[in-house]
Amino acid sequence: GADSKDEQLEQFRSDDAGKDLTTNQGVKVSEDEFSLKAGERGPTLMEDFHFREKMTHFDHERIPERVVHARGYAAHGVFEAYDSLEHLTKAKFLSEKGKKTPVFVRFSTVAGSRGSAETVRDVRGFATKFYTEEGNYDLVGNNMPVFFIQDAIKFPDFVHAVKPEPHNEMPQAASAHDTLWDFVAHNQETAHAIMWLMSDRALPRSFRMMDGFGVHAFRFVNAEGKSHFVKFNWKSTLGVHSLVWDEAQKISGKDPDFNRRDLYEAIENGDYPEFELGVQIIPEEDEHKFDFDLLDATKLWPQEEIPIQIVGKMTLNRNVDNVFAETEQVAFHAGHVVPGIDFSNDPLLQGRLFSYTDTQLIRLGGPNFHELPINRPVCPFHNNQRDGYGRQTINRGQVSYHKNGLANNTPAPASPADGGFEHYQEKMEGRKVRARSESFKDHFSQAAMFWNSMSAPEKEHIIEAFSFELGKCKEKVVRQNAVDMFANVNLEMAQTVAKNVGAVPPESGNTEIGKTSPALSQENTIKTPAT
Ligand code: HEM
Repeated sequence: GADSKDEQLEQFRSDDAGKDLTTNQGVKVSEDEFSLKAGERGPTLMEDFHFREKMTHFDHERIPERVVHARGYAAHGVFEAYDSLEHLTKAKFLSEKGKKTPVFVRFSTVAGSRGSAETVRDVRGFATKFYTEEGNYDLVGNNMPVFFIQDAIKFPDFVHAVKPEPHNEMPQAASAHDTLWDFVAHNQETAHAIMWLMSDRALPRSFRMMDGFGVHAFRFVNAEGKSHFVKFNWKSTLGVHSLVWDEAQKISGKDPDFNRRDLYEAIENGDYPEFELGVQIIPEEDEHKFDFDLLDATKLWPQEEIPIQIVGKMTLNRNVDNVFAETEQVAFHAGHVVPGIDFSNDPLLQGRLFSYTDTQLIRLGGPNFHELPINRPVCPFHNNQRDGYGRQTINRGQVSYHKNGLANNTPAPASPADGGFEHYQEKMEGRKVRARSESFKDHFSQAAMFWNSMSAPEKEHIIEAFSFELGKCKEKVVRQNAVDMFANVNLEMAQTVAKNVGAVPPESGNTEIGKTSPALSQENTIKTPAT
């Protein structure tokens, strides 16, 4: 039920109030302020096991921060299905009107380190763990519907370009430096996502006031084995609201915790954040009906063509008890699915399926992080995996392999009819190639669509954002290449930005790098709007 996760966590909560202080071995401690010394003025003694244990544990308190999305904040809640989606998916948490499933949601920025300011220009992560009766389902999304690259093999490059530059760890702001904009111009599939990043969507006023997107096409599979492509959308019931850049910058200085404070206080005050879950559905037979490829994560599915159906609501109603134990140790993974939900061949998603567990093996210290309270499914889990750092489960019995003749009660696979996960039997044929379909090369149609959908003030903000961020780039050629590239989205926009950042206003859209020679550009003076 809705409280099953809370009940499970209860057995791990520790109440230390009023208890005697002990060592980790349970020995009561009589003194916690003076270390043991050889004489009042003598050196500290090695045999002071209480001192040694306390200090050793402290010395090991930190774990690596997430390689991306390090700065985040989370809360517990509940998801309620509005209707049965049985015709589309056999996932039980979507199978019944009114069905409630506990959830844990972590919001994050992407580029900044764990202690960075929150109101920076960046994408926001929006990761939800559904503790379903059939196992954990993670919807690991962002607050923007498209991504910067099309293939996971480029993710390390992209993140290297976005993080502070390695030779001096500056600047902290991802969108304001030469390596990001150099990457963008040389990887023009970034165009659409960059438009979102330069828009007000990159400055959410509150985690409660932003939408979420699963980004990739996934699959729903129903009990008859019929599959539909699906995109997931979260819609804030408060609507989408942003900060303006001047506010965002001032708040970054005055209250770097602005977004988490807002979320924490809203929940403490009973003003529970709510998000409705919407799905966009494309029948499998319509896979090739569109002028973009469903497998291309730089393209959204226009709502006019593929409407969003609202299927449920999530309410965040409880703050964590301990940020480290829950928010920091939670391990989301785009590959955590339940029967009825499956993957598409989106080459970005396919790479994510490898990356998350891989990174968590080091971040959370070995292969047993599924045993941490926050990561445990609320349903039982049994298999022949054994041992490893930090193992908590005490598996009993002689036999830890499948199949065997010595024990008759070891875990055995369940048939699909009995809830066993069965991968969708998509028909596949082809050659092993490093390629993708032609429409992946269209980098500007949807970027232009986004620009055209903006109101006049929103367009103004985008121009100001480009001018501010590009204006921070030291290299003339980087600024020039970027404005040349964005002339393919909107010529006038690019010309205005060019003037603001001391680049030559491009005369037409052109995807060739270096068409406008930087040598031709005007004085290296930059007019950054005061905004
Ligand atoms: C976190 C990899 C694309 C959303 C992470 C982490 C890695 C990663 C390694 C850190 C995980 C951890 O330490 O627990 C990748 C790769 C991608 C990719 C390789 C592309 C190939 C995306 C996309 C989205 C996304 C497209 C959104 C749809 C997130 C979120 C988190 C995250 C929300 C933070 C989860 C949390 O709050 O703990 N990603 N990512 N990522 N990623 Fe991705």
